[in-house]
Amino acid sequence: MRTPFIAGNWKMYKTVAEGVALAESLRAAFDGLTGMDLAVCTPATALMAVGQALAGSNIGVGAQNMYWENEGAFTGELSPLMVKELARYVILGHSERRQYFGETDETVNRKFKAALAHGIVPIVCIGESLEQNRGGETVPFVAAQIHGAFAGISAEEARKVVLAYEPIWAIGTGLTATPEAANTIIREAIRDVLTELYDAETAQAIRVQYGGSVKPENMAEFIVMPEIDGALVGGASLKEASFGAIVKNALAALGKA
Ligand code: PGA
Repeated sequence: MRTPFIAGNWKMYKTVAEGVALAESLRAAFDGLTGMDLAVCTPATALMAVGQALAGSNIGVGAQNMYWENEGAFTGELSPLMVKELARYVILGHSERRQYFGETDETVNRKFKAALAHGIVPIVCIGESLEQNRGGETVPFVAAQIHGAFAGISAEEARKVVLAYEPIWAIGTGLTATPEAANTIIREAIRDVLTELYDAETAQAIRVQYGGSVKPENMAEFIVMPEIDGALVGGASLKEASFGAIVKNALAALGKA
């Protein structure tokens, strides 16, 4: 059984003070929650203070990106050693980083290996564009992203990752894949491919979140789908009211409330 996992992706929002305030209200609402993992992926500047605000709670902290070298002349980058000091998770290959900052399947793979080498849990994002979706290319495209991300990674290592299936056209747009379509894509482009690459047990062990305009009103219909193990939430993770309602609605839909 895969433990459901809901993570907030704060993107480039929240000063340190704002992040700490949100973390404190989430802690007040959800400390002691069992049966579901929670995390907030904050800007790098807020990792330490948010981590302190959540220390000893069941809400984990994640970074949003990381370089693969341990140290060096790489201005502006964060190394795995630096991330590891402050975070349990790191988002890798988010579509915004692929689109605006030149991430490729190859750089995602290098970062993925670096995260595993340092005991950081990667949340690896994959998903297709609107054109690919309309052109019926979703399954081969996402399958190729999976092949690229997992190149050279053992079954034992693979089980430690979290995947986030995020159709690019659903991110921040208010549009979502239907839960049924997302479920089918996760099965055909992710679990079947992982079964081929590794084995059924490994494919079944890996948690896959859905992401893209997740809101309190639609969380339940996604989380009940058999292949969907939670959500990566952007816009709606920026307020305690909406992120809290997403978590509560997911728990209720799973009969854990
Ligand atoms: P959204 O973002 O929930 O605002 O659509 C999701 C994401 O980018 O992870």
